[in-house]
Amino acid sequence: MIIRREKPADRPEIFALIEQVFPEPVEAKLLRELFASREYLPELSIVAESESGEILGHVISTRGWVGESPALGLGPIGVLSAYQQQGVGSALMQASIDTANAAGEPVVLLLGSTDYYPRFGFVPADSVGIISPDPSWGSHFMALPLAGFHTGIRGHFKYAEPFNNL
Ligand SMILES: CC(C)(COP(=O)(O)OP(=O)(O)OC[C@H]1O[C@@H](n2cnc3c(N)ncnc32)[C@H](O)[C@@H]1OP(=O)(O)O)[C@@H](O)C(=O)NCCC(=O)NCCS
Repeated sequence: MIIRREKPADRPEIFALIEQVFPEPVEAKLLRELFASREYLPELSIVAESESGEILGHVISTRGWVGESPALGLGPIGVLSAYQQQGVGSALMQASIDTANAAGEPVVLLLGSTDYYPRFGFVPADSVGIISPDPSWGSHFMALPLAGFHTGIRGHFKYAEPFNNL
């Protein structure tokens, strides 16, 4: 398996993957809008590809904001069901984190399972002073402070615009 940046030719396979992984059309629609948005960051749309060239998983992070400070919103992430539980999701998460760190991004935010994301260092966002877009998300709204994080990065998180159309 290799982990690499998305290429334009991958798009049909990425959409097919997301439609397989998520039974509702919400994530595929969101992904289409994220790809077309101003907040799209090409280096943070990452695929896992098998030796035979099949796309096994995809993850995207897009530009968001904590108050006036740039930040990243991660998601959606999906791995083909036949390849789940084999480390593909972890490899995609680690590549996203490493790329974000190398780019000097200060923090990654996501909404997700408190059983999965803490293994990558995610903590409840409110514990580092970042306020969720929706208070009902509670501890499922998580933050990963990166090397460039500082305590001046505090306040309400705003996702890329397409998240407002969910
Ligand atoms: C979540 C997902 C990306 C993880 O990818 P993966 O390749 O299966 O993950 P890995 O093999 O790296 O890690 C497997 C571990 O994650 C845990 N895990 C996987 N999905 C989980 C979920 N939805 N909730 C909690 N834990 C989960 C497994 O229990 C396993 O834990 P263990 O290591 O303690 O046994 C993948 O399962 C998936 O596509 N799920 C459906 C889509 C989804 O829910 N996406 C997240 C919301 S955007």
